[in-house]
Amino acid sequence: MTIMNFSGISKSVMNANSHTTILAFETSCDETGIALVEKNGENVQVLVNKVASQANLHEKTGGVVPEVAAREHVLTIRPLLEEALAESGKTKDNIDAIAVTVGPGLMPALSVGVTAARALSYSWKKPLVPVHHLEGHIYSAALEHQEGSPFPALALIVSGGHTMLIAVRDHLKYEILGTTKDDAVGEVFDKVARMLELPYPGGPQVSRLAEKGNPKAIKFPRPMLQSGDLHFSYSGLKTAVLYATRDTSLNLSKEDIAASFQAAVIDSLIAKVQMALDQEEFASVLLAGGVAANTSLRSAMQDLCQNAHIPFLTAPGDLCGDNAAMIGQAAVFAFEAGRNTDWQHIDASARLNIESFSV
Ligand code: KG4
Ligand code: ZN
Repeated sequence: MTIMNFSGISKSVMNANSHTTILAFETSCDETGIALVEKNGENVQVLVNKVASQANLHEKTGGVVPEVAAREHVLTIRPLLEEALAESGKTKDNIDAIAVTVGPGLMPALSVGVTAARALSYSWKKPLVPVHHLEGHIYSAALEHQEGSPFPALALIVSGGHTMLIAVRDHLKYEILGTTKDDAVGEVFDKVARMLELPYPGGPQVSRLAEKGNPKAIKFPRPMLQSGDLHFSYSGLKTAVLYATRDTSLNLSKEDIAASFQAAVIDSLIAKVQMALDQEEFASVLLAGGVAANTSLRSAMQDLCQNAHIPFLTAPGDLCGDNAAMIGQAAVFAFEAGRNTDWQHIDASARLNIESFSV
């Protein structure tokens, strides 16, 4: 178990004069996350952000086994909570509400965070703020905006479970514009990593290898470019990569396969973002989710936004993956907007639509 710590991240945002302190939990997949986030007038500050990664544990199985992830969350969550509270210098008396990711994600894993949040809510007599996992990713990027409002924002979410274009019309107002018809981008990165015999988690490994390869070596298909809508599909590209890895007569290097695959993914994403920008005016473009850590994707999005004269916002690389700071960052706004419930009325759900979290 590796425990990372990112403390003292502070971002200036708009509106509201109230003061809110939130304790946030995130256990939707294979990171146990606990954070304390404070909103003071226009300032949102991450007081403590603890992330316990289970990557080493899941390396043995080459992927996340939900029950194994849940067991590790159970073992980790209490000591991590004690550390987070001690480091923040806060006690239950300073905490206004407890936020937790209620979905989407792996049900056994989600249930650990939700159960912990319910138990604390009951014993501390604090309200609960249910948060959709993707709201967290969106806020981690949106709060990078320095002045004025980033909304309406066009958010590209690319993670292990999702590939989505979402119009964030204002705070907590979401409309899904496009989504993947099959695999998510992160999932395809992980599957290509397995084809290239790279260890778990595969995404970062593929992108590292891609840096040493020629992105033009193999002309992989650019999926859905002619579909005329904002949806994505990656199963065809995945199959094309599989054939390339099996065809020894082509004598392709792993580096070239990785680089050519990554270039095809990035082209497909960039084309859809451009299409969405052509259809509608946005105040900013957000890139979020685990795959947002990919440096080639970040720079392609940066270039696109520069050409379109629109601010490009993304979380710092080490905060693109799952963490509880992002859940707390969404929750301070949700709580102030009146989203709160009690321990008897909150449940985890493996499948959840972000639009149903709109205010
Ligand atoms: O958001 P996240 O931490 O978890 C989910 O909500 O799914 O995203 C994890 C995904 C994994 O599929 C991982 O391989 C991928 O993000 N990923 C990357 C990179 N870093 C993480 N994919 C491509 N390039 C990267 N640098
Ligand atoms: Zn995520």
